[in-house]
Amino acid sequence: MSKYGTGVLTLIISFALGYAASHANYFAPRHSIKQVMRKAHKQGLLKDVLNGDANNEDRRELLSLYLDLAANTPPKGKPRSWRDKTTAIVNAARAVAEGDPRGTRALKNAVNCGSCHREHKGK
Ligand code: HEC
Repeated sequence: MSKYGTGVLTLIISFALGYAASHANYFAPRHSIKQVMRKAHKQGLLKDVLNGDANNEDRRELLSLYLDLAANTPPKGKPRSWRDKTTAIVNAARAVAEGDPRGTRALKNAVNCGSCHREHKGK
């Protein structure tokens, strides 16, 4: 390939990677919904973060789990509802990870177990 061609290809690839990185849904999530529920909600990670019993690494892990949650497709419910709910959760978890003092309250409100399960959890 000519020097010119390689340059153009590199440019295209770096654009594609940048685009994918800014649109998390183009990546296959590393955790399934069930895995996120177990790690964040059964093992107590969310609770620790909300109670202030978590360190920065825990807060970043919770954010990363919720990014994976958002990138999954739920067993049922409208895609738009899933997107709205998980976007609110991701934004709040990001605020917490960044040390925004309003983050905790926002996260508590955004993670509504019952309302999401009614809409999106199968049997
Ligand atoms: C944004 C939506 C959403 C929120 C918020 C949510 N869940 Fe879930 N949860 C789901 C879905 C969808 C499933 C079903 C996953 C499946 O069947 O693949 C699930 C499944 C579960 C399971 C079963 C996991 C398993 O191993 O089968 C538990 C336990 C659970 N959630 C706990 C919680 C708790 C506790 C909260 C609140 C702190 C919560 N969830 C908040 C969407 C949510």
